[in-house]
Amino acid sequence: MKPDPIAEQRPVLDALSRSMFDPALSGGCPLLGEMLGALGDDPVAVQLMLATPLWKIPGLMLSAALLYRACADPAHPLARYLPGRDAPLDAGFRGALHEALVRDRVTLAALMERHTYQCNPPRRLAVSAVAIAEATRDWPRRSVVHVDVGTASGLGLLLGHVAARVGGARIGPEQALLELEIELHGGQVDPRALVMPEIERAVGIDLDPPDLRDPACRAWMRACQYTVAEEWAIFDRAIDLVLERRPRIERGSATDLLPRIVAEMPPGQPLLVTDTYVAVFMSEDEREHLRRELDAIAAERLVVWLSQDPPVPLGRHPERTTAGVPIPAALVERIHREMFGLVCVTTWPGGVRTPRLVGVTHPGGCWLEWHE
Ligand SMILES: C[S@@+](CC[C@H](N)C(=O)[O-])C[C@H]1O[C@@H](n2cnc3c(N)ncnc32)[C@H](O)[C@@H]1O
Repeated sequence: MKPDPIAEQRPVLDALSRSMFDPALSGGCPLLGEMLGALGDDPVAVQLMLATPLWKIPGLMLSAALLYRACADPAHPLARYLPGRDAPLDAGFRGALHEALVRDRVTLAALMERHTYQCNPPRRLAVSAVAIAEATRDWPRRSVVHVDVGTASGLGLLLGHVAARVGGARIGPEQALLELEIELHGGQVDPRALVMPEIERAVGIDLDPPDLRDPACRAWMRACQYTVAEEWAIFDRAIDLVLERRPRIERGSATDLLPRIVAEMPPGQPLLVTDTYVAVFMSEDEREHLRRELDAIAAERLVVWLSQDPPVPLGRHPERTTAGVPIPAALVERIHREMFGLVCVTTWPGGVRTPRLVGVTHPGGCWLEWHE
């Protein structure tokens, strides 16, 4: 038997495909599930994925490049499968996929080289809201500053304007601009007892923030979303809100800019730091640098760091989360079957850095499984 050229990528492709059929994702995302399931069997797709570095998650990059092309051209072989047209994913689908790959091979390679995957699903905000509300339940009710590191387009900066609808409760401000429903399973957390701290202002940091005013940039981000009408609608609404509100986004590295942003804060004002799908892309040295910056800040004020990161780019057998918490063996085993994010909250009670792995979450934020 010939060796599988994408043996290293196949478990990720399989797990991604399976996670797309999760019914919590607005009933599932069969188009992406079928596509990711088929890419590993198509010789043109295999070549394109092999030319893409593993850290970019080649299967996801190729699916986004294909959808980018399909969304731009109603005559594209895959356009009839998009939300709104919803052609059945029958025997003809793999043929259409192959036709799109052959026709656009050069353009797809260029898109995969130029871009990174920019999923940014807004429902991750609801997951952050639940975990932060729980982690800050003993804090004095005082407004906080929110810094979203690796904010990319700035969607994470809408945290103070969203309400999470979860388990019959609503967590977030009365006048929320976006309501996001998520499922909460397991654990002891009672969402009805949770209150999100009021966010006075929010600042984003990113090494290379995309410019959403550029239609090609926005179209690329949209191509990275789940191809489900409801998820597209939420994404479009969230992007419009970011464009209207024009949040402050500083270009640079989290470790350089965080102390400068904190230096502008009044003494004693609490700080809320979020990183969603960011710290996992840093080196362990960079992550430790970030933790030490946070240690120094936490010596002066209340701080919570919420880290919502996948374990995958950490390796096939990751030992610790981005926040430095050991990953239980059962979760390491689950990584081989399923895509999920690890939700960690770090606080500094008595000045001691105390990270907790509070749960795992769907990559699109559709569910949160509480582990405490
Ligand atoms: C995968 S995206 C995640 C975007 C968004 N937070 C989300 O939930 O989808 C990772 C982002 O982190 C940024 N990034 C990576 N390392 C960074 C660092 N050291 N400082 C600031 N931004 C960083 C990248 O530029 C990229 O926009």
